Amino acid sequence: MSNVGRSFGAMNSKWREVYRKKEIKAEDVALRLIQPGQQIYIDSGVSEPQAIVKAMVEYAKAMIDVKIIQFLCLHDKQYFEESGGAQDVFRHNAFFIGADSLREAVKKGMADYTPVYLSDMPSLFRRRRVIIDTAIILVSPPDIHGNCSFGANVDIVKPIAECADVVIAEINPFVPRTHGDSFISIDKIDYFVYNDANDLLDFQYDAPDDVAKEIAKHISMLVEDESTLQMGIGTIPNAVLQYLGEKKHLGIHTEVFADGVVDLVEKGVITCEKKTLHPNKIVCSFTMGSKKLYDFIHDNPFVNFYPVDYVNDPFTIARNRKQIAINAALSVDFTGQINADSIGSMIYSGIGGQMDFMRGAAKSDGGKPIIALPSTYTTPTGEVKSRIVPSLAPFAGVTVTRGDVHYVVTEWGIAYLHGKSIRERVMNMIGIAHPDFREMLLEEAKKINYVFKDQELAVGKDGRVIPYPEKYERYFLCKDNSQLFFRPIKPTDERSMQELYYNLSDQDRFYRFFSPMKTFRRDKVKPLVYIDYKTTFILVGVTEETEVEKIVATGGYFLNPNINMAEIAFTVDDSFRNKGLTKIMLDYLVRIAQEQGIEGFFGTILMENKPMLHIIRSLPYKLEASVEESEFNFKFRFADRIEK
Ligand SMILES: CC(C)(COP(=O)(O)OP(=O)(O)OC[C@H]1O[C@@H](n2cnc3c(N)ncnc32)[C@H](O)[C@@H]1OP(=O)(O)O)[C@@H](O)C(=O)NCCC(=O)NCCS
Repeated sequence: MSNVGRSFGAMNSKWREVYRKKEIKAEDVALRLIQPGQQIYIDSGVSEPQAIVKAMVEYAKAMIDVKIIQFLCLHDKQYFEESGGAQDVFRHNAFFIGADSLREAVKKGMADYTPVYLSDMPSLFRRRRVIIDTAIILVSPPDIHGNCSFGANVDIVKPIAECADVVIAEINPFVPRTHGDSFISIDKIDYFVYNDANDLLDFQYDAPDDVAKEIAKHISMLVEDESTLQMGIGTIPNAVLQYLGEKKHLGIHTEVFADGVVDLVEKGVITCEKKTLHPNKIVCSFTMGSKKLYDFIHDNPFVNFYPVDYVNDPFTIARNRKQIAINAALSVDFTGQINADSIGSMIYSGIGGQMDFMRGAAKSDGGKPIIALPSTYTTPTGEVKSRIVPSLAPFAGVTVTRGDVHYVVTEWGIAYLHGKSIRERVMNMIGIAHPDFREMLLEEAKKINYVFKDQELAVGKDGRVIPYPEKYERYFLCKDNSQLFFRPIKPTDERSMQELYYNLSDQDRFYRFFSPMKTFRRDKVKPLVYIDYKTTFILVGVTEETEVEKIVATGGYFLNPNINMAEIAFTVDDSFRNKGLTKIMLDYLVRIAQEQGIEGFFGTILMENKPMLHIIRSLPYKLEASVEESEFNFKFRFADRIEK
């Protein structure tokens, strides 16, 4: 018995002797046990049984026509080496593609891909719709009860081991002993190979680039305290964790997690204390990471592993309150059809658990299903292309339908699509597309009548689409100690602005527009919504009511370039008045205007408009004012500040 690996309190130091009839050499698997034409399952992800796989490739010529099924293949090459002729022996069928060599093999038609929801995979085997002759699994040495742990991967391997005709285990003392529904009795193992020569495979996501960081920051804003998180496979979903350091009592219910979760547990951010399902436990089905992660999950009752038909069942997921599902995509059309598994006809990854968690999070009380992707990609020839497209590329797969999509996030912002019309979706998606592609998207949408024929985008003097100045987004504390989110206006605010104005009383309409305005048709609202933020700046204060923003306050300035002064105007919803919103907006607009080099503000108020008069008169600036009939005209320069 060797002393390497993790400590298990193994059943007794002589367990190999007790079960010596079951012990075989790795090459026996290839030379004796796998029969011609068999269909085998090989444990996947970081739990690939490395000694057995190596022997199978080495002794490939001794085998005939072996079908390999794997959930997630991370190990490169292996069965696809051009030399040695192994590809003539093995036909690989992946349920999710991780390794480049497998992607290449599928592309060339040398290997297969099966699109299936992660939650549905176990039932394929349990119902024997897919028969596994031999399951080759990786497990820990047996504990004092004779149970071996599946370690970092319970996923579909446990259900498969329960229905395969023959189970061959590679028993490796580096495999962490994980808790949950994650054990197999050594009595259920027909043969085992002992291997203490290597730890689990190491897996790291690429460091997030600036775009990924920006997307991650946006998503972090959607994560409330006490949320339960799922992060799908990908750099971006996992980068989000880096921006959650200030959150409180987060929980984890996810099919997979990586090292980033360990950091947040150590910081005390992930406590799982407020979870409504499995409180005080991280729930997962597999992990992929470094030794740090494997040490963390080893013999740690805080982390519970279950097969995917439990973890990924949307009904299970929905039992978590505030379940946030964060999943990456490759492209999305402007109506919200998500493609995450293919680049045209090339199968890139797989369906995985994306749809399971999108559905589960949508049904969770306070849950948020989120799809994240950069707005562009660069082709091998250096051409930059939009990932937000009028229609998905021919052959590309839809992994989330437009009926299921909720949040889509790029580095340009967040689009909320659920319950929105095609026209609203297109405009929202254009708003988070890269500015260089927005006009193209709008033109394409016009051609098929998805938007109004006269729909515009805010275009600057140089003819280019003006990017949304996100840096001005922020929360302010109101007089009643509530917080309200303020941001610059966007083209997609057209309808909300109409609603704000239509809700005004006749008197308020008079105060704001100096006439009894009856209509706020699109042509009236458009100049306020499609703006060049350099010369016109309009802020809106928004509340989020059932995930649909409502504008409750707006204030803005309109530059008169001849005098380098800007005219101001404000409107606040009746039920949000006297909370200090106009004063907040005015103060903020002064700061923004100063940044633009504007010298001061001016305006006109009806004398009977007491609140507005009061606001202007109590400003800390020297006021130039005159009264003409019932109108109060004022002007002030920012330089003439009176320190009170
Ligand atoms: C004018 C308007 C924008 C004010 O919005 P608001 O967010 O309620 O304003 P604030 O809460 O920031 O400030 C209101 C101030 O007026 C004061 N006020 C309210 N009613 C008043 C009255 N009848 N007489 C004098 N002062 C009054 C409040 O006490 C508060 O001042 P304080 O902070 O010093 O106590 C809002 O009433 C509105 O939308 N009216 C209709 C449109 C309009 O008139 N727009 C202005 C012309 S562009």
